[in-house]
This record gives sequence, structure tokens and C-alpha cells, in this order.
Amino acid sequence: MILYYFSATGNTLTSAKYMQEMINENCRIVSVSALKDAPVIDPEDDVIGFLFPIYHADMPWLFRDTIKRIRFPENSYIFSIATFRGSPGACTLHMKALLESLGQKLSYASGIRLPGNSVMNPPYVDAELLRDQKENIRKIIPDIENRVVQEIEGEIPEPSILEARPANLRGIQADETCIGCGTCVRVCPMNNIELIDGHAEIGNQCLTCLACFHWCPVEAIFMETPKASSRRPKYHHPDVKLPDIIKAKTL
Ligand SMILES: Cc1cc2nc3c(=O)[nH]c(=O)nc-3n(C[C@H](O)[C@H](O)[C@H](O)COP(=O)(O)O)c2cc1C
Ligand code: SF4
Ligand code: SF4
Repeated sequence: MILYYFSATGNTLTSAKYMQEMINENCRIVSVSALKDAPVIDPEDDVIGFLFPIYHADMPWLFRDTIKRIRFPENSYIFSIATFRGSPGACTLHMKALLESLGQKLSYASGIRLPGNSVMNPPYVDAELLRDQKENIRKIIPDIENRVVQEIEGEIPEPSILEARPANLRGIQADETCIGCGTCVRVCPMNNIELIDGHAEIGNQCLTCLACFHWCPVEAIFMETPKASSRRPKYHHPDVKLPDIIKAKTL
């Protein structure tokens, strides 16, 4: 089994790791950030799990882009697990449609509620959601091990505008308190940040994943919109440290 994941603040990374620990079969986890420039991805495994955070009721652009580059083994069993704070929206239908366009079938989908890292999510850390994370994953494991196939039905909506392509639509930028430490450069999955004269400059290849925003040690990164919450308190999963997120770009 192989689990592909994307994670900016650790909710999805920890979920993938916990799943790997709990599952009673050989299971590898691979970060899609590390595959950003791979023209073709050959999983070898025929049980394939996709773990991703919900962005605007859809999946992150990089995740969609990665799936399009996978050469699926014949008769793969494919499942998806979304992490989210409020609602997974139509992500299962988006995933189903994407896989169908590639001649594949989404057999099973589930989700795990965890603290929100977006500007729209409540700016507090929900201790209960963190406490229940392992238990919620434990409930999914038998379905995966038994290769449960669900009927996934519903009208497929258009992909979210924000996720359809990389673009800095939130106006993410660093203010004058930037100390030029380079942390944001190291965590950005899109290599979209450059240090110019000791100041972080953010380009247009942005997924709005907010890794830079949450991991900047001096909270210099902010968004132009929405103004009211563009300086929300920073979050990362307590079991994830900065080197874990940096490592995800190469492993
Ligand atoms: C750009 C963006 C959009 C988001 N949109 C949603 C959403 O539509 N629904 C929701 O429940 N959570 C949403 N979230 C919250 C994340 O899905 C959630 O916090 C996720 O677990 C973060 O995963 P990570 O820590 O692995 O990066 C959004 C987060 C970001 C950064
Ligand atoms: S992480 Fe923050 S302080 Fe460090 S370079 Fe980036 S914006 Fe500047
Ligand atoms: S610039 Fe920041 S928000 Fe945009 S993709 Fe890079 S780390 Fe994510």
C-alpha cells in the first residue's frame, strides 16, 4: 500500500503516519511535494491512498496535478482521506471525477476533522479534534484493510476557482519585520518564495497552503485579503515540527 499526502501544517502528515502505524500491511507514505517535478509517477503498489487537506471544498491544486501524473497499476484499489475543520464539501465527488477522467475508480472516501489552518477557520486550536484524531483513523482502518467499496454518487461541481491553478489570489506577502531567515523558502511546496536583499518575496505560483504563514518564526507573513483574519493566530499540529515539513519537500 502507498499513501500519497500533502500537508502544510501537519494535520494530514500526522494522519498518514498514524495510519501507517495502525494498518496491518506494508504501507509507504510519500509526500506529493517531493514529486512536484516528476513527469511520471509509478507507484508499483496497487492499493493507493490519497490524503490531503480540504481547500475550498476541493483538493489542493498540487494534489490534483500529482494524481494526473500517476501511472496506476491495473485494477488498483484507490481511496481518499481528507482532513478538514468544518466541511469536506464536494471533495469526494471532485476526486471521483478526476479519477474517472483518468480511467480509474474511487472505491472509498472518508474524512478526519482537525483544527483549521485557514483564515476562514476558527482561530483556536480545537483540543477535542486533536484528541479524537487517532480514534477516528482507527475507525477507517478495517474498511481499508477489507477493501470496502462504497457507492459514491452526486452531481460533480466545478473545481474551486482558487484551486484550479496556482496564483497568489490572497495577496500573501512578508511585511517589514521579516528577518530573512529563509524558513518560508524552505517550507514552500511550490518553491514560490525568494529572499531578495534579505526580504522574503512571494511569487505567483502560490497554492495558498499557508505553510509560510504558519511557520514564519516572527509572524511576518500576512494576507491582503480577507483583511479581518489575515493575521490569525498561527497553527501547526503538536506532533509535527518544522524539520518534518521541510523534509516533506524531498521525501
Ligand atoms: C486555503 C485553505 C482553504 C481551506 N478550506 C477549507 C474548507 O473548505 N473546509 C474546511 O473544512 N477546511 C478548510 N481548510 C482547513 C484545512 O483543510 C484543515 O485545517 C487541514 O486539516 C489542514 O491540513 P494540514 O495541516 O495537513 O495542512 C482550508 C485551509 C486552507 C489553507
Ligand atoms: S520565514 Fe518569516 S522571517 Fe523568515 S524569511 Fe520568511 S518571512 Fe522572513
Ligand atoms: S507561498 Fe506560502 S502559501 Fe503560497 S504555496 Fe508557498 S508556502 Fe504555500
